Amino acid sequence: MIYRWMVRPILFKLFRKDPEDAHEAVLALLSFVGNQRWLAKLVAQCATFEDPALEREIFGLKFRNPVGLAAGFDKNGVVLRGFQSLGFGFLEMGTVTRFEQPGNPQPRIFRFPEDEAIINRMGFPSAGADTVSWHLRRTAGSDIPLGISLGKSKNTPLEMAAMDYCYSFRQLYLCGDYFVINVSSPNTPGLRKLQEKAHLKDIISFLKKENKALAELTKQKPKKILVKISPDLGLDEIDDVLEVCFDCGVDGLIAVNTTVTRDGLTVPTTEEGGLSGRPLWKKALTTIVYLSIKINKKIPIIAVGGISNAARAYEMLKYADLIQIYSALVYKGPAIVHQINEGLKDLMIRDGVKHISEIRHGR
Ligand SMILES: Cc1cc2nc3c(=O)[nH]c(=O)nc-3n(C[C@H](O)[C@H](O)[C@H](O)COP(=O)(O)O)c2cc1C
Repeated sequence: MIYRWMVRPILFKLFRKDPEDAHEAVLALLSFVGNQRWLAKLVAQCATFEDPALEREIFGLKFRNPVGLAAGFDKNGVVLRGFQSLGFGFLEMGTVTRFEQPGNPQPRIFRFPEDEAIINRMGFPSAGADTVSWHLRRTAGSDIPLGISLGKSKNTPLEMAAMDYCYSFRQLYLCGDYFVINVSSPNTPGLRKLQEKAHLKDIISFLKKENKALAELTKQKPKKILVKISPDLGLDEIDDVLEVCFDCGVDGLIAVNTTVTRDGLTVPTTEEGGLSGRPLWKKALTTIVYLSIKINKKIPIIAVGGISNAARAYEMLKYADLIQIYSALVYKGPAIVHQINEGLKDLMIRDGVKHISEIRHGR
């Protein structure tokens, strides 16, 4: 309530010229919180909703609740402690590219409060894998599962993409619990072509080989490798992605990234980029339901797209194992994590569900 009626209007008004400034201000505040142990602890005590019924073990990792931070908020992993204090069950940082790059010119984030939607054409601004790795190894990181999203650098040709992903993977190997091959952002020219069979097979095979070698070298278990897909794929294209993922032994899927369509957006706009938030919900749910049927519980699914309250989270968890949010955090504020978890528990009680894993349908 306080966020919606006081903080959000101030933030949006102060930074109405470029929403990215509001984003930076939030990151600075969270960084401050994360750097003061006592404050981070205090915030976490207020923000975290704990209940054994919400705990899950997936990919051999323990999740204290199923609500994660989606990729894109903390691109360089500089505010992980701060985000952890907000009560998330897991975090995904990135997308990180092999080379340092500025991304597209600003402004590149556009808000549509009437629809609780965002259009972005960030284009992977990244400090680059070397710097991010250096930074992560010197900071405390997070105590909850951390995913690292990997993307292709803008200047790397598609034919060399596998090498690009592999380099970043190697550099960041010790820092993450799971890694995401992001081939679905609409803002890097040609990136979505990497969802095609031959390219995707190439990237996954490279990473799997590297994963095995690094696991032996570091005497650790191999890291989990996931693929994040676009909501704009046709059913045949999703089938192709799945075929490659099963052939190559991918550990899980994340669906969905932002959409280039404008369905559900009530305000006309000519801004280019990927749309997320409330209008993405229908597309995201349709994709997840299809994946759930096709995958038939063989590998875990992380659902993301338009999840803005507990009811939507509950609906998604009928077809997925974990969920992530991005736009809801912008429009509803940090309390949304607690609200979703608490709401999930209430819905479980309503339906006589004893544990979160029981929400998931048979397939
Ligand atoms: C400003 C912005 C930047 C994003 N950057 C990334 C990114 O770097 N990598 C990625 O995989 N997804 C990125 N996303 C997509 C989100 O992770 C998520 O898939 C999408 O926003 C849908 O979720 P939502 O409806 O809860 O926002 C970004 C989204 C936004 C709004």
